[in-house]
Amino acid sequence: MKIFIDSANIRLIDSFMGMGIVDGVTTNPSLLAKENSDPTVQVKKILKLVPGHVSIEVVSTEYEKMVREATAISRLGRNAVAKIPMTKDGMRAVRTLSNAGVKTNVTLIFSSAQAILAAKAGATYASPFIGRLDDIGTNGMELARDIISIYRNYSIKTKVLVASIRNPMHVIDAAKAGADVVTLPPEILSLMFSHPLTDSGLKKFLLDWSGLAAKFKKWF
Ligand code: E4P
Repeated sequence: MKIFIDSANIRLIDSFMGMGIVDGVTTNPSLLAKENSDPTVQVKKILKLVPGHVSIEVVSTEYEKMVREATAISRLGRNAVAKIPMTKDGMRAVRTLSNAGVKTNVTLIFSSAQAILAAKAGATYASPFIGRLDDIGTNGMELARDIISIYRNYSIKTKVLVASIRNPMHVIDAAKAGADVVTLPPEILSLMFSHPLTDSGLKKFLLDWSGLAAKFKKWF
């Protein structure tokens, strides 16, 4: 399963680089607005920093404008993916873009029916929003599982990108379900590193070692 960072913050994204755990990035208009800097400059920096796929969302809602915007996004870098909302115009745009070889990520998917349509339109990625469904008292992970099994039934090439992640359990469940990608906020990715037994174990190792180090100075 690939791990993408769901953020537009350069400092936070950069803090995870160099470990081999970041396969890509997803951004959206809200995340870019949070950074409050020129969005074009911001996404160019992310595309340069991260070699994997970086999703950048169109903000137009009409077919022609979406295609124009997505095409411009795709020209920002070979790793750029145009994020398109799940609408009728959006799916028309995805088909046109897919025929032109532009990578797409269909965003705001909240049902299996929508995921079927995204795949039919030729999306590179389909993004079910798990956490937002949980927020309204629905089981978001169940939707991810359904989409994964539907795509498997027909060997569909569209990758399932599980989005709107709220906790590390979402990541584990997505992996168990066989998701292609999970995209998570930096805070949740940080939580995945921690375990109290790791902390206490390391503390004890270093304490025991300090007694030995006092007697035998030489060590690498
Ligand atoms: C995915 O591509 C979206 O940017 C993201 O996962 C949305 O998550 P949210 O529901 O936490 O805003």
